[in-house]
Amino acid sequence: MTEAILLVGGQGTRLRPVTVNTPKPMVPAAGVPFLAHQIARAAAAGVDHIVMATCYLAEVFEPYFGDGSAFGVTLEYVVEDQPLGTGGAIRHAAEHLTCGADEPVLVFNGDILTGLDIRGLVDSHQQAGADVTLHLTRVDDPRAFGLVPTDADGRVTAFTEKPQTPEEIVTDQINAGCYVFKRSVIDTIPSGRPVSVERETFPALLASGARLHGKVEQGYWLDLGTPEAFIQASADLVRGIVDSPAVPGERGEALVLAGAQVAEGAKLADGTVVGAGARIGAGAVVQGSVVLDGAVVAEDAYVHESLVGAGATIGPRTALHGAVIGDGARVGADNELRAGARVWCEAELPDAALRFSSDR
Ligand code: GTP
Repeated sequence: MTEAILLVGGQGTRLRPVTVNTPKPMVPAAGVPFLAHQIARAAAAGVDHIVMATCYLAEVFEPYFGDGSAFGVTLEYVVEDQPLGTGGAIRHAAEHLTCGADEPVLVFNGDILTGLDIRGLVDSHQQAGADVTLHLTRVDDPRAFGLVPTDADGRVTAFTEKPQTPEEIVTDQINAGCYVFKRSVIDTIPSGRPVSVERETFPALLASGARLHGKVEQGYWLDLGTPEAFIQASADLVRGIVDSPAVPGERGEALVLAGAQVAEGAKLADGTVVGAGARIGAGAVVQGSVVLDGAVVAEDAYVHESLVGAGATIGPRTALHGAVIGDGARVGADNELRAGARVWCEAELPDAALRFSSDR
C-alpha cells in the first residue's frame, strides 16, 4: 500500500480569471481536468490512497473525482480554512494517512506535469534510508526556482530559494515538486499555521542533521505556472510526449472529444484538443491549442498555441497566436491577437477591432 498527498491550493488560481471560470486544477488538459493526469499517473505507480489537500471547497473536485474508485484509488479531500502553505498543508492532510511511522508517503505539487518514474523515486528513498527524498530536475535558468545542490552520494547540502546573484546559483538542480517523506517526519512540521516546505521545513531538517536525499531525474518536466505552459502540457499529453493513462483517446496530432464537429477541410495539428460539443469551421487551422467544450472556431480562423475557453467564439478569419480567450467570450471576425493577449470571460470583441502590426 502506498499513500500520497496531492497539494492543490494556495496560489493555484493563477489561471483565473483571465482564462476560464474553472479553477486551475480543473481546467481540462488533453480533455480531462489536469488533476486527473496526476491521479492516474500516481495510481499507475501503485499509489492506492490519495489525500487531496486544498483550500478550495471540496465541491470543486468531488463531482468529478468522487471517491477515486474510477481511478482505482481511495481519494479523500481535506480543506484548509486558510491556506497553510505547502508544509502546513502536508501536515494537515497527514491526519488522514494510515501507514506506519517509517513508511514512505509521496507528496505531489498539483501544478507540475512530469514523466517521473514515481516508483523509482520511492525505491531510491528506501535505498538511501532517507528522511525525505526530493525529485530534482535540471534547468537552464534556475532563477525562478528553489536550488537544491547535492553531494556525490545524493545527499542534499543546501536549499536556496529563487537565487538572484551569480554566487547563489551554485547548481542547476531544482526542486521538481515531488517528494517522498518518511511518515514520522511529517509529524515534525508545526500544525495549525502556514509553513513552507522549501523555506522552512527542508532547511530546518537539514540543520537538524536529517537525511535529505535528492534524486536527479531529467525526463519530461513542466511547471504549469503560466497559461502558455498549460497549453503546451495539453498538447504534449495529446501527442504522447508525456504519458498519462487519463488521456481519453489515442495519442496523435489531435484529440477530438465526443460531440465535437470538425468541418471538412479544417486542419487540426500539434496536439490540439477539441472539446465536447465544440465546432471547428471549414478552412480553420488549429495548432497546438486547447479548444474547450462548446467553443466555436469559425471558418478560416487560425488558432495557434492558444486556449479557447468553454463556449467562446472565434470569428471567421481571426488569428490567435499564444492568446487565451475566457469562457463565453466572443472574438469577432478579422481580428489578430498575439502572444500574451487575454480576453476576459464573456467579453466581446467586435469584428475587425484589433490587429498587430510592425508599422513604425
Ligand atoms: P511554499 O513557499 O513552500 O509554500 O511553496 P510555494 O508557494 O512556492 O508553492 P507553489 O506556489 O509552487 O505551490 C506548490 C504546490 O503546492 C501547488 O500545487 C500549490 O497548489 C500547492 N500549494 C501551495 N500553497 C498551498 C496551500 O496553502 N495549501 C494547499 N493545500 N496547497 C498549496
